[in-house]
Amino acid sequence: MSALFSPITIRSIQLKNRIVVSPMCQYSSENGFANDWHLVHLGSRAVGGAALIFTEATAVSPEGRISPHDLGIWKDDHIAGLKRITQFINQHGSIAGIQLAHAGRKASHHRPWDGGKAIPPAEERGWETVAPSSIPFIEAEPRPLALTKEGIENVLIDFQDAARRAVEAGFQVAEIHAAHGYLLHEFLSPLSNQRTDEYGGSFDNRIRLLLQVIEQVQAVWPEEYPLFVRISATEWTEGGWTADDSVALASVLKTKGVDVIDCSSGGNVAHAKIPVGPGYQVEFAERVKQEAGIMTAAVGLITHVDQAEAILANGQADFVLLGREFLRDPYFPLHAAHALGDDIIWPSQYERAKPK
Ligand SMILES: Cc1cc2nc3c(=O)[nH]c(=O)nc-3n(C[C@H](O)[C@H](O)[C@H](O)COP(=O)(O)O)c2cc1C
Repeated sequence: MSALFSPITIRSIQLKNRIVVSPMCQYSSENGFANDWHLVHLGSRAVGGAALIFTEATAVSPEGRISPHDLGIWKDDHIAGLKRITQFINQHGSIAGIQLAHAGRKASHHRPWDGGKAIPPAEERGWETVAPSSIPFIEAEPRPLALTKEGIENVLIDFQDAARRAVEAGFQVAEIHAAHGYLLHEFLSPLSNQRTDEYGGSFDNRIRLLLQVIEQVQAVWPEEYPLFVRISATEWTEGGWTADDSVALASVLKTKGVDVIDCSSGGNVAHAKIPVGPGYQVEFAERVKQEAGIMTAAVGLITHVDQAEAILANGQADFVLLGREFLRDPYFPLHAAHALGDDIIWPSQYERAKPK
């Protein structure tokens, strides 16, 4: 058996291989509701053999959406549509994961194919954004409001309520989105967080909100279900969050019962120079795994089976998350198993197409 197709149990959840569908915004919801698009999109990747399938960033509050079209989980009415998806995913032997998210100062934007620009709060479909400090992501964009203590309390409640709904909807893995310049990352970074209260300044103060969110989520998240945290392991910017900070954070998260650190990077500094190339973020998953002693997920331009297998076989990460490759090929795991000579179960309906 290859490393890629070695099963693993985290807490009480069994994953049949190490291939995970990375969270990817679909910008296809109205009022946060999941619909046929999400069922077919996520369902296809279950048919394709991924062990764990993450939803896109799923907003814990309406103001936490990147765009008016984001998926959401801020009200009980959202549960039924999501449940239909988790049930389908489970029927095909995969586990459904949800990425819980708040977009912070990067909220209230048009979706990419509508231009991707900020929607000012005064415009129809726009809203006031919030952040640790009143610093926009891009100077020309509307300034976010600095969250008050009461605002922070509300964020904590929103994450907890969302996690409770996620359990009801049938998700068995949750990932807290603390990467890509969204709210929780904005608190982590000294560049976007210039608060002078207990949420700003020192490293301990900047990680406080994330720790509180984790605590709130864990209060309702079953102990037998895994919890992932996605971080931007570096901001690729002088004076910003660094890989050393990520190791230090991961060491703390390990003591708090987080199971996996999903190591992405960037997203909080508009003009950061990122050396994008095959597997360019794997080094962070490797460092965090080795130095903090916690399981990690590698993500970012992992597109080939041999590359994915090597990352796992070399002990650089415990999981590989694929984003765009899964958009090109929902059946990546079925093809990968064949290439590696692993005999895996195909969906009965597709059995006749299985290479012999
Ligand atoms: C269409 C699209 C939507 C994305 N949406 C999210 C998201 O909702 N949450 C997130 O953490 N990352 C998101 N990402 C980043 C991916 O999860 C992944 O980290 C990134 O694409 C790098 O992996 P890849 O090279 O395999 O695509 C998105 C990427 C794409 C291409």
